[in-house]
Amino acid sequence: MLPSRVTLLDVGPRDGLQNEPAPVPAADKIELVHRLQAAGLREIEVTSFVSPKWVPQMADNAQVMAGIARRPGVRYSVLTPNLKGLEAAMTPARERWPDEVVVFGAASEAFSQRNINCGIAESIERFAPVAEAARAAGIKVRGAVSCALACPYEGETDPDRVEFVVRLMREIGVQHVGVADTLGTGTPRRVQAAMERALKHYPIDEVSGHFHDTYGQALANIYACLELGIHRFDASVAGLGGCPYAKGATGNVATEDVVFMLQGLNIETGVELDALVDAAAFISGKLSIKPVSRVANAVLARRAAAAT
Ligand code: HMG
Ligand code: MG
Repeated sequence: MLPSRVTLLDVGPRDGLQNEPAPVPAADKIELVHRLQAAGLREIEVTSFVSPKWVPQMADNAQVMAGIARRPGVRYSVLTPNLKGLEAAMTPARERWPDEVVVFGAASEAFSQRNINCGIAESIERFAPVAEAARAAGIKVRGAVSCALACPYEGETDPDRVEFVVRLMREIGVQHVGVADTLGTGTPRRVQAAMERALKHYPIDEVSGHFHDTYGQALANIYACLELGIHRFDASVAGLGGCPYAKGATGNVATEDVVFMLQGLNIETGVELDALVDAAAFISGKLSIKPVSRVANAVLARRAAAAT
């Protein structure tokens, strides 16, 4: 039986906007977060506390976090690859802290090196004090395992590699693990194999899927996860995104497309599709692009036809 309820984490403001060629004003990022929470998203990945030399698009992290009018019941997360990032995220007053921080490792040595400038073993050494300090401060710690299906530099990923990193994350006190198909080349059975490795070390409530849609497999991969009972997924409004260190990979699966599929399966998300499409139209307009989401475009075309 498929789960009756799914929690969606919108990573659009972070994963979606970290790769945009033109700078996006902080005010637009804040407005996007406001629109996502108004649409019913209860988990939003807002920004990254990473080096502005590596990812200049996230240099306004503190400004964006400070500008959000927080809604009770919404979990705001940020990426913190090291203690410096965590300290920066915790510099303002407590009510401005993120509710959750993300340490982001990889199942591939080469990707880890390119993305965070250290190999897997060293990344875990950097994450351990972040996890400890965050937990001590009452901030939840999520771990992302990039390249769980394939790596741009090393090719297909063996599920053993996924399990290896997942186990290390568990050992250092990471409370939730997100299995990420960074390149978007995964297909359903291979995704299930990777997920099953994560489920050996984490309870099902603390495992999520993060699918980029480069090869159009993301919805099928989410369905394959639902078959395993997994009920937490990342998605990105308008299908925005990509990773600067995974060239050629497109954005995450569009939140609108996931919501539409789940509605059709009678799976509750708490997200209101029309308001979400408005958010997609808003940010796409600011970026002067069309949403990647097929559902958003269909809804917008239907609205335009109805208005004529
Ligand atoms: P490093 O060079 O090893 O770090 O970079 P370092 O400690 O040697 O410091 C070097 C410089 O960076 C110093 O500044 C530090 O102060 C500064 P300098 O003295 O040269 O002026 N620095 C920082 N500044 C701000 N915030 C920090 C910070 N740490 C050091 N936290 C580091 C290591 C991780 C910082 C760097 O490699 C980095 O910022 N990488 C960015 C990686 C990134 O954001 N990638 C995209 C997100 S991951 C992703 O998209 C995948 C995901 O979506 C899942 C999936 O799809 O796979 C999550
Ligand atoms: Mg990603």
